[in-house]
Amino acid sequence: MNRSFHFMLALTAAFLGTRALAEVKPVSFSHDVLPVFQGSCAGCHQPGKLKSGLDLTTYEGVAKGGKKGESFKTGDPEHSFIIEQVSGDMPEMPNKGDPLTKAEIAVIARWIKEGAKNDSVAVVALPSGAMPGPAPLAQPPVYTVPPVITALAYSPDGQTLAVSGYYEVVLHRADCGGAVARLVGGAPRILSVAFSPDGKRLAAAGGAPAQYGNVQVWNVDERKLAGNWKTSTDTAFGVTFNPAGDQVAFGSPDKSARILNVADGKELLRLDQHTDWCLGALFTADGKRILSCGRDQAMKLSSIANGQFIDDINNPLEPIMCFARHPKEDIVASGGALGTPRVYKISDNQNRTAAKNDTNLVKELERQPASVHGIAWNAAGTQVAVASEGEARVYDVKTGSRVATLAGHEGGIFAIAFAPDGTRVATGGYDGMVRLFEIPSGKLKGAFVPVPLSTAAQTASK
Ligand code: HEC
Repeated sequence: MNRSFHFMLALTAAFLGTRALAEVKPVSFSHDVLPVFQGSCAGCHQPGKLKSGLDLTTYEGVAKGGKKGESFKTGDPEHSFIIEQVSGDMPEMPNKGDPLTKAEIAVIARWIKEGAKNDSVAVVALPSGAMPGPAPLAQPPVYTVPPVITALAYSPDGQTLAVSGYYEVVLHRADCGGAVARLVGGAPRILSVAFSPDGKRLAAAGGAPAQYGNVQVWNVDERKLAGNWKTSTDTAFGVTFNPAGDQVAFGSPDKSARILNVADGKELLRLDQHTDWCLGALFTADGKRILSCGRDQAMKLSSIANGQFIDDINNPLEPIMCFARHPKEDIVASGGALGTPRVYKISDNQNRTAAKNDTNLVKELERQPASVHGIAWNAAGTQVAVASEGEARVYDVKTGSRVATLAGHEGGIFAIAFAPDGTRVATGGYDGMVRLFEIPSGKLKGAFVPVPLSTAAQTASK
């Protein structure tokens, strides 16, 4: 944040703070205090990353304090450790990022002075991170026009193609044989889908923009919603399974990458290293590390065991819109907002120098007609398919040469998937058609609108 802006903000806040003090209304922990901690402290003091043993995301955590003991003395802000930590010209905390404003500190101090009361609503017997998601629609949605397709995934056995719709994921026979199931949830947008490695579960992530993020886990055989969680106050991006299939990772506009336990939605890890929207997260082949990407141009590697940040694996060149891991190895293909797909080794970047600052780069591919919206590997790990605008392309990773051009789309292609046997690529996007192309010939082998269109509704809406 720019200094003068920060100063103005502090002034305004201080003014509001004094006004608030003049009013009789006591400070509320959940409305006034917790948001300050969530905004400036939760990155390092939360259940997944307990710096100094201190959790500042719940009243219980604040009250319990950290390694050095209690964080406040009820009624006595002057002798409260947490106030001491955030005050002064060079406050100890937060130990990274902007210091708290005077007004924010005043709010915490007044809350302590007024008795440090807990007015947070008890969360009903749910593990942390597992807020229930929106209730599924009672009826499948009715479409008058084909929905923009934002996500596609083949089941590991290659029989089924999962396609995003509005409020739902539609399972299609991969041979163009038609829809076999509609998995209707409660979130209007589904931005990514992924099958578990054993094909038994399907994760779908999305939400309602500027309202909530949603991660759903479906039991594929029974077509049942097995998990349904709200994640944050905005849509969730880029969901993937770990190799064991018991964890999912995703990114959020609140800049965090998170891991949820598939069985109960418990948040196992939250990473706050990005400085802009986090657009996806994936696991290394051993399931022990997580790689996240975002609009801040970074791909960040962290340990899952302790949440420790390891390194940016790439030189920041353009916002990373999407990425996908090699089917077996710790290699990632990424797609940039300026249109260049790149392939990187997923490892720390220690040998970098000023002259050689992208040491993990394995291959830079040809620049696409526009932003890269989707990227996918074939099962052999030899080719990547890239979605951009108008046409999708397939590349040989070793040589970097183009293997196939998949033409015929109108507008943006937002989703792309490689069939497990490597002979087909499915695409979807703005024009609402799923297209299946033969690889390497690039011939169109099938195209369909993935949802039923209501002619009745069409006439009625005219
Ligand atoms: C970037 C990470 C980071 C952020 C952000 C951060 N902290 Fe900390 N915090 C730490 C670390 C690391 C320690 C342990 C420091 C030490 O022991 O020297 C710590 C320790 C503390 C302690 C001492 C706990 C104890 O009992 O040992 C308090 C209190 C604290 N932080 C409050 C805050 C508050 C309040 C905020 C937000 C305004 C905040 N921290 C933001 C990393 C962070």
